[in-house]
Amino acid sequence: MLHYEHVVRHVRQLIGSTSTEPFWTHAELRVLVPACEDLSDGLTQDRELIGQDYFADKELLAAYLALYWPATYQQAMVTLKIANITPTKALDLGCGLGSFAVALSDAGAERVVAADRSAMALNEAEKLWGSGKFMWEHRDIDGRPPKGRYDVITVGNALNELDLEDAEIAGLIERWMAILNDGGRLILVEPALRDTTRTLHRVRDLIVENYRIEAPCIWAGVCPALENSKDWCHGAWPWTPPDMVEQLAAAVGVARDTTKMAYLILSNDEPRTETGRIARVVSEPRHTKGRLRYFVCGGEGRLPLVCPEKFAKKNDDLAPMKHLPKGTVIEYGPTQTKGDGEVLLKDSHVTVLAAADQ
Ligand SMILES: C[S@@+](CC[C@H](N)C(=O)[O-])C[C@H]1O[C@@H](n2cnc3c(N)ncnc32)[C@H](O)[C@@H]1O
Repeated sequence: MLHYEHVVRHVRQLIGSTSTEPFWTHAELRVLVPACEDLSDGLTQDRELIGQDYFADKELLAAYLALYWPATYQQAMVTLKIANITPTKALDLGCGLGSFAVALSDAGAERVVAADRSAMALNEAEKLWGSGKFMWEHRDIDGRPPKGRYDVITVGNALNELDLEDAEIAGLIERWMAILNDGGRLILVEPALRDTTRTLHRVRDLIVENYRIEAPCIWAGVCPALENSKDWCHGAWPWTPPDMVEQLAAAVGVARDTTKMAYLILSNDEPRTETGRIARVVSEPRHTKGRLRYFVCGGEGRLPLVCPEKFAKKNDDLAPMKHLPKGTVIEYGPTQTKGDGEVLLKDSHVTVLAAADQ
């Protein structure tokens, strides 16, 4: 349930348009496209908007709703599916215009406390989504969390705006974990940019021994993506956005055909100790010269898993190697260590334990 028609009506009100066309008109695009470009630059390129109340600007707010809201709602839905939990009471920190809060409600939450420091964002979120299920709270999320205990806490695309050291973010995570109900989940989502993602990796390393990382990491050691400064590990899921999102994205020149994000899902269960041959696929396929190759990260760290194509054709137990979407969890073996990675043998197996969004 993407709620996009409702969002579009609200955007039109905000920019003073009376159109009811099923696509953005030229006049609407003249307002929305430059505002989307400013947001894109200010949040992901020069990042000059970070630390500012950009939602106090009506056009930026309208642009966020039109182009970013559906994408971040989708991030929330994907992570909630992976977290495999039906929340009753949820908390959304850095809620902005409520994409994660609304997704939590759609996933079953009866009550969602949603906090942000932008009064304008909270005001618009309340106008859009009402106050029955939602409690919109004006609050700095780097301070004391709201009272109560929660089944799910989400922090969507907000950690990178806090201007905190890694250890301070780890300290906040500790506070949030302390107000999770047993069996609950803390879901952290960050933009799939190199710097924001690598920060999440470093923070993960600070907490990996204290909390269970439900996803994406199976490996409980230090994050292998940090070894190379050009490297970062994020997820990407195919997405077909509504036509009007596609139209606006094309006009702005940004891609909207995948849901991309860096994420961590944490629980209070025992931290992982896996060392076996269970791993998550963390790269796109890198097939060359008759060999099927993927980077996988799991109980043995991050390594290239290689399968000669002819083995995958002849041995059904290796057939999954032909198509392993990034994010899939597999169990595999045996292998032989060779120059180009861990190479599966002709009678080895690869078993899919969980699809990329599960
Ligand atoms: C990029 S928006 C993300 C909004 C929403 N979670 C989403 O994913 O669409 C980041 C939000 O974090 C909020 N924010 C940034 N620093 C904050 C702080 N210290 N306390 C509360 N909210 C903060 C901003 O006001 C903004 O609404």
